[in-house]
Amino acid sequence: MSKVILVTGASSGFGKFTALELIKKGYTVYGAARRLEQMKELVQQGGFAIKMDVTSEQSVADSIATIIKKEGRIDALVNNAGYGAYGFIETTNIDQMKRMFEVNVWGAIRVSQHVLPHMRKAQSGSIINISSIVGKVSTAFLGFYAASKHAVEAISDAMRQEVGRFGINVSIIEPGAFSTGFDDVVLKELEEVHPGPAYQPIVDSFIPYFRNMYEKAPTPEPVVKAIVSAIESKKPKTRQAVGSDAKGGIMMKGLLGDRTFDNIMLGQMKMK
Ligand SMILES: NC(=O)c1ccc[n+]([C@@H]2O[C@H](COP(=O)([O-])OP(=O)(O)OC[C@H]3O[C@@H](n4cnc5c(N)ncnc54)[C@H](OP(=O)(O)O)[C@@H]3O)[C@@H](O)[C@H]2O)c1
Repeated sequence: MSKVILVTGASSGFGKFTALELIKKGYTVYGAARRLEQMKELVQQGGFAIKMDVTSEQSVADSIATIIKKEGRIDALVNNAGYGAYGFIETTNIDQMKRMFEVNVWGAIRVSQHVLPHMRKAQSGSIINISSIVGKVSTAFLGFYAASKHAVEAISDAMRQEVGRFGINVSIIEPGAFSTGFDDVVLKELEEVHPGPAYQPIVDSFIPYFRNMYEKAPTPEPVVKAIVSAIESKKPKTRQAVGSDAKGGIMMKGLLGDRTFDNIMLGQMKMK
């Protein structure tokens, strides 16, 4: 029997490429996102597209009910929907950050809450939560996005301990920078950021650094491979950093003291 897999955030980036790869491998794949029109390729390749907003309880409930009615089960869930909103602690617009937490944190929890009862009943399943290198480290200007991904990590660790007894695996993927639609959304969110004169010069030097990093960023295949491996493995890695920047950054944070790490990061991000 082919696995039934739900991938959130399947209209772009990691989610889209993961869904396409899983379809190619013969799985029954449901891609979910708000932009149905961006999931045409997924449908053409034999997958199913569902319009879902992870911030809406009703939308998530209806989407999962539709899949269960048709398939009777969901074997794997990839909680991938998410985005980055950046800002300084002193001047940030709290509502903007709450909206991001609603997607990155509560969205993943909401979808999991609707899927877990079915996995528990089946006594099997896999949940893969997409975190980030900033689920492990935090840097100036990215503090809120990092907090949302630290929350994803903490909740994933607790979830793994809670649902392991029901035969359900929980894995965390921690990508570094990869070329997706991520940077466009960050730059769009930055239009709402008005940091004031004390912080504006930092933003002005950060933006070219950020653009340049994403222009050079690798394509998402390694992340797709890590997600597919977490779905297919009987005993997947609990967490996996993907990309040399993610592996290096997390290792550096573990080895260096806070102040040395701060200095290196501020220099690298052109924020000194
Ligand atoms: N690319 C990177 O460098 C990078 C690095 C580390 C971690 N990540 C994480 O990887 C995940 C995927 O991002 P990506 O890089 O593939 O970016 P992306 O290309 O912008 O894709 C983000 C996906 O999230 C979906 N999404 C956003 N808000 C949503 C909502 N309210 N309800 C449902 N879906 C929603 C979008 O779909 P719609 O807009 O159609 O709803 C889109 O399909 C995110 O969690 C991100 O934080 C990315």
